[in-house]
Amino acid sequence: MAAPKDVIWPRDPHTAAKHALLRRYLQAWAPIMLSHNDIVTYAEGFAGPGVYRDGEPGSPVVAHQVLSGALRRNPRRVKMVLVEENARRKTELEHRIATAAGTYGPRSGRLDVHIAQGQCHPDLLRQLARAGSLNHPMFVLLDGFGGPEVPFPLLRRIATQRRSEVMVTFQPAFLVRFAGKDDRHRAAGDAFFGDSDWHGVFQQPASAKAAYLRDRYRESLGRAGFQHTLVFEMIDEAGHLLYLIFGTRHERGVEKMKEAMWVVDTTSGVRYRDPKDPNQQALDLELEPDTGPLRRILLDHLRTAPAARSVDQLKKYALLETVYRPTQVIPLLKRMRDDQDIDVSPGRITGASTITALHQDALF
Ligand SMILES: C[S@@+](CC[C@H](N)C(=O)[O-])C[C@H]1O[C@@H](n2cnc3c(N)ncnc32)[C@H](O)[C@@H]1O
Repeated sequence: MAAPKDVIWPRDPHTAAKHALLRRYLQAWAPIMLSHNDIVTYAEGFAGPGVYRDGEPGSPVVAHQVLSGALRRNPRRVKMVLVEENARRKTELEHRIATAAGTYGPRSGRLDVHIAQGQCHPDLLRQLARAGSLNHPMFVLLDGFGGPEVPFPLLRRIATQRRSEVMVTFQPAFLVRFAGKDDRHRAAGDAFFGDSDWHGVFQQPASAKAAYLRDRYRESLGRAGFQHTLVFEMIDEAGHLLYLIFGTRHERGVEKMKEAMWVVDTTSGVRYRDPKDPNQQALDLELEPDTGPLRRILLDHLRTAPAARSVDQLKKYALLETVYRPTQVIPLLKRMRDDQDIDVSPGRITGASTITALHQDALF
């Protein structure tokens, strides 16, 4: 989106969807992390003013609400580290967090909020170090205006804490339009991706460029240390494609983020891309979950895998390689067995059952 000049600005539908996703995910993340760690941190490098024009909460306030709620049921501590470059937005954010703390905050001060004016990089890392957060699990939201703003070394540093996770906003249009012609923009792209492999975008047809950059960025997150990534696709109010890319080392993080995504109202503009779908069709999640593509994906997988797969292996494959959830696999396998797409051994479907594809020419 074009960067607004005012301290606060109207909240558009894709931002509402992003906040719904963040809220859902943190509702799952906070109790899990707090049950295993004495200290966890929620951080933002582009925190914003904490409020939108009609009074809707900004992402730091959304996080504050959820984390306060989690601390009521748990005796541990949460730190919030928030960096914002604009002085007036930072002042507004302080005010909004103070109000939220009065309304929702745990009385004992177990939710410790650090707000700093500065640049996402290197100030976020400095503030995280000062708060004593770098050696504890962090969830870091890097939600700038979407241009290539997040330097790769920041991701790599966050990933050295093995239980940490990131969510990055990326709008590919800027690099697609300008980086071919301007060395400075190309250098900004190199700093974002951490290498120059993304330059291949200049040889892609126009319709494939955004997806190409998205996939290169997923690889960058992998190189940084986040081996699992999920991508949400949104359209901003100007009609620009915007990706929200989540990175984690943990299958449980993937599972919880996927669950959050499946319940977020897709009418507000979120689309979840299926990495295994060659047509790259975005799913319309508000409809009855359409597992037709999963049927095709599983059959492809069964036919190309070197050996028969167990149901548990297929559930893991669905979790890590597709947009679907493991809970969708067994009901689908039952339908596939009834349709004679697969053979199940022994006949009852359990986690250990072995699945074999029956014929090559199934129609979907
Ligand atoms: C998209 S807004 C953040 C919105 C916020 N995450 C939310 O959802 O409520 C981006 C914010 O980052 C700030 N910003 C832009 N460049 C920055 C930088 N290099 N470092 C820190 N903050 C920056 C802007 O002033 C703006 O407030």
